[in-house]
Amino acid sequence: MTSPATTYASPFVLSVLLLVSIPVIFLLAPRLLPPNPLWEKFFRGHHHLFNLYVHADPFSALTMPPTPSFRGRFVPAKATQRASPTLISAARRLIATALLDDPSNQFFALLSQSCIPLHPFPTLYNTLLSDNAGPHGRHRSFIEIMDDAYMIHDRYYARGDDVMLPEVPYDQFRFGSQFFVLTRKHAIMVVRDMKLWRKFKLPCLIKRRDSCYPEEHYFPTLLDMQDPEGCTGYTLTRVNWTDQVEGHPHTYRPGEVSASLIKELRKSNGTYSYMFARKFAPECLEPLMEIADSVILRD
Ligand SMILES: *[C@@H]1O[C@H](CO)[C@@H](O)[C@H](O)[C@H]1NC(C)=O
Ligand SMILES: *[C@@H]1O[C@H](CO)[C@@H](O)[C@H](O)[C@H]1NC(C)=O
Repeated sequence: MTSPATTYASPFVLSVLLLVSIPVIFLLAPRLLPPNPLWEKFFRGHHHLFNLYVHADPFSALTMPPTPSFRGRFVPAKATQRASPTLISAARRLIATALLDDPSNQFFALLSQSCIPLHPFPTLYNTLLSDNAGPHGRHRSFIEIMDDAYMIHDRYYARGDDVMLPEVPYDQFRFGSQFFVLTRKHAIMVVRDMKLWRKFKLPCLIKRRDSCYPEEHYFPTLLDMQDPEGCTGYTLTRVNWTDQVEGHPHTYRPGEVSASLIKELRKSNGTYSYMFARKFAPECLEPLMEIADSVILRD
């Protein structure tokens, strides 16, 4: 068995991909990037183990705090919109930049501005590293892959009746959260793919816009086709779909933030505890910071 200490010695860097899209920014300006002091705390002291890449909508005028932990790199960005393939493009742009930027980037974690960490950095790092249930003892990507018939039917036909064929047969179309952690091998697969992307980048029909969530299908479909054994099939990012409104999950408000909420959000039915959670309103920053040292960044 490889001990975590041995694995630490090999070059292994987590690439954190932050996707900041504009609709939220408009609503929440000027208090951009809500829990950033929390992320600052999360990253502090681990500079050699991660790189941060930011895709911020050009209209958001986002800036990063001038601290060493937040030495983020902005990637050339284009505007993103719901019900369009622009979120896939943004994620692919982030992944491509991170792949080329540093060959030590081994895992690629996609997050948004409403995500918070649920554990200290070393717990995340060791979880990613200790999982080696992929073929030949390889690391796996943490990506949700579901074939829930109820979710899939309308979404498969969102671009028109036979449009996805022959590249994407109905029974291979998958569904899952767009918040994932990919291995380097899978990040390369995503960036190289042209075959499925040709289909997923087509616009949805206007009358089927309600079923248009390309980013929730492209990544799970692609990876399930190319390397299902290399994927866990679940995400590390907890989300609360109770009382969802128009495809938006529950957004936590300051009054809901507590130690017990964090402990509840960590619980998962998978092998590992959840590492991140969404969505948190920017106003949650204060109560989150109050429990950062005692709860969130402590195991
Ligand atoms: C999920 O959101 C609902 C409100 O929509 C809330 O009542 C419930 O407590 C939340 N669950 C968790 C685990 O936070
Ligand atoms: C775990 O599974 C149970 C039973 O299927 C379900 O009720 C619960 O919501 C699941 N919990 C999480 C965190 O997914």
